Amino acid sequence: MSLLSVDALSVTFAGHGTGRGAGRAGRATKAVDGVSFDVAEGQVVGLVGESGCGKSVTALALMGLLPRKGVSVGGRAEFDGADLLSMGEKKIRDLRGSQLAMIFQDPLSSLNPVVPIGVQVTEILTRHRGLKGEAARKEAASLLDRVGIPDPDRRLKEYPHQLSGGMRQRALIAMAVACAPRLLIADEPTTALDVTIQAQILELLKELVDQEGTALLMITHDLGVVAGLCDQVNVLYAGRAVETAGRRELFAHPTHPYAHGLLGSIPRLDAPRGEPLRPIRGSINDKIAWADGCAFAPRCDFYTLQCLTGTPELTEPRAPGHQVRCVNPVLPADRSADAAEVSS
Ligand SMILES: Nc1ncnc2c1ncn2[C@@H]1O[C@H](COP(=O)(O)OP(=O)(O)OP(=O)(O)O)[C@@H](O)[C@H]1O
Ligand SMILES: [Mg+2]
Repeated sequence: MSLLSVDALSVTFAGHGTGRGAGRAGRATKAVDGVSFDVAEGQVVGLVGESGCGKSVTALALMGLLPRKGVSVGGRAEFDGADLLSMGEKKIRDLRGSQLAMIFQDPLSSLNPVVPIGVQVTEILTRHRGLKGEAARKEAASLLDRVGIPDPDRRLKEYPHQLSGGMRQRALIAMAVACAPRLLIADEPTTALDVTIQAQILELLKELVDQEGTALLMITHDLGVVAGLCDQVNVLYAGRAVETAGRRELFAHPTHPYAHGLLGSIPRLDAPRGEPLRPIRGSINDKIAWADGCAFAPRCDFYTLQCLTGTPELTEPRAPGHQVRCVNPVLPADRSADAAEVSS
């Protein structure tokens, strides 16, 4: 059974938004538009997509951290049977302190600048795991060590501004792990880190999932991270899921042209030698409203006129459980040939 069950989540920012890229003053922005997914205990579910597609806003909505004013949130998000979206402020704050944790994309804004790192980590260990004094200090040092922070005893005494950006990110990861949450939302936790540290962090997250049964919602635009960690993947585009599948199925058969393009634009060791990388043309700004057709149509290599006739629904053109929002999906040549034969 799912620990988190998100059903038709939507988030709209009223006009005059002040956030990054909030659009022209006066115009509402639908940042998340009917997103549904489940995360079970011990499962890693990925939210993938390019900048601005709604990943962080989805996470903040689930954590109850969006401002109440000027933002309307719709749909349902059940955590262990209770709806996070309609929950009172106090109740969700209690849950955040005990069962839900998030690693934020921006580490500096989520650490307290005037409290040493050690105090921030030990506070969590005391509150969540009842560790005190020397035992808490030792565990804090061991956590910093596990996230790859050298000389942890010295670092525990330092303030956030004395750590590099990558170290602050790792300190935040240590704090999230210290809570032993039931659900951990990790928003691009390794983007700022070099690859060896990245591997270490991914290993730590994997351990948390395997040994503690933590449910992990992994937000990333890095397909390498998805390949190494996620069981189930949701590819988002302009606030909607365009493809949802198990990791193996998605990597073997990316079927929405956007997912197909994403996978085609990364180097693969199993690709034939000399095969060029195929970038996706244009940017996420070249889109049409979902109400008018497929938002990806202006950038799509498989575009047809049918793509502009209203919102495409999620269907399963390839395999059960592999959902794709596209009227002209990328299917294997034999399937297309079959289709051509049937229609001729
Ligand atoms: N406070 C806000 N007011 C208005 N619009 C906002 C606000 N915060 C985010 N948005 C808009 O919501 C959309 C989704 O933003 P979000 O931060 O979720 O993107 P993201 O997928 O996390 O991107 P990135 O990979 O860059 O972190 C964007 O168009 C963004 O401009
Ligand atoms: Mg983000």
